Amino acid sequence: MGRPPGGRQARRVSLAQSARQIFSRQTHDAGRAIDRLGIDPSHVVLDLGCGNGHHSRAIAWRKPALAVDLDVSLEQLRGLARQISKNGSRSYVCGDALALPFREECFDRVVCSLVFYLLPLERALQELYMLMKREGRAYLRVPMLATGRAREILSPRVGIRGRLYVASHVFNGLLYSMAGRQIRSPFVRRDRWACYVPRRRFVQAVRRAGFRIETLEIDYPKPHTPSIEAWLVKD
Ligand SMILES: C[S@@+](CC[C@H](N)C(=O)[O-])C[C@H]1O[C@@H](n2cnc3c(N)ncnc32)[C@H](O)[C@@H]1O
Repeated sequence: MGRPPGGRQARRVSLAQSARQIFSRQTHDAGRAIDRLGIDPSHVVLDLGCGNGHHSRAIAWRKPALAVDLDVSLEQLRGLARQISKNGSRSYVCGDALALPFREECFDRVVCSLVFYLLPLERALQELYMLMKREGRAYLRVPMLATGRAREILSPRVGIRGRLYVASHVFNGLLYSMAGRQIRSPFVRRDRWACYVPRRRFVQAVRRAGFRIETLEIDYPKPHTPSIEAWLVKD
């Protein structure tokens, strides 16, 4: 029996696909998060803290009326603008999530993944609330405080700086859990507010900011590293 046409090529493609599937199970799944947001062609959508565009591509496939990618890092935005083909419905904004350069109630959908844990959570949520339309919906993802986080501090694969960085997230998370407040860490140079967010405080903070939680899930992209995922509407 002869080989199927393009056998070696096909095998190579399927190996690449399996590798991608294994990898995508270890990272966060943008498609699922975006599907639940229900983006339609009339929507104006913001990817708040878009980074390297993990969600931007999934948003682009839904062809919204306008997609805005915002990040505080101009470098990230430049890289992203080179990757995603330009068309009339896309714009890139360099700005701070704590002082957003938009008028009130202008977005139908907001994606904010792995950003608010780097900021004072309650202030960031107030900003988010202001820019969402009345019937708007937001997807939020933050790394959660959990006992498994101790493994990250003790991991032999991480250098001393990395351990300090992670320890400051854990410390801030514990403080937030017990005392209800975050502090700027004196021990790290970058991401001083960074905090693994306690689930109970997260729920309190989003409600206090005026949101209702439609769905809340805990995702485990890797063992012992849970993230809170929440789909929010204005209450
Ligand atoms: C961990 S990355 C997450 C990127 C992407 N959203 C994702 O889910 O993969 C955090 C991103 O938040 C951005 N960021 C940090 N502080 C910010 C702020 N105050 N305003 C806007 N973006 C910020 C960083 O530049 C970085 O690109």
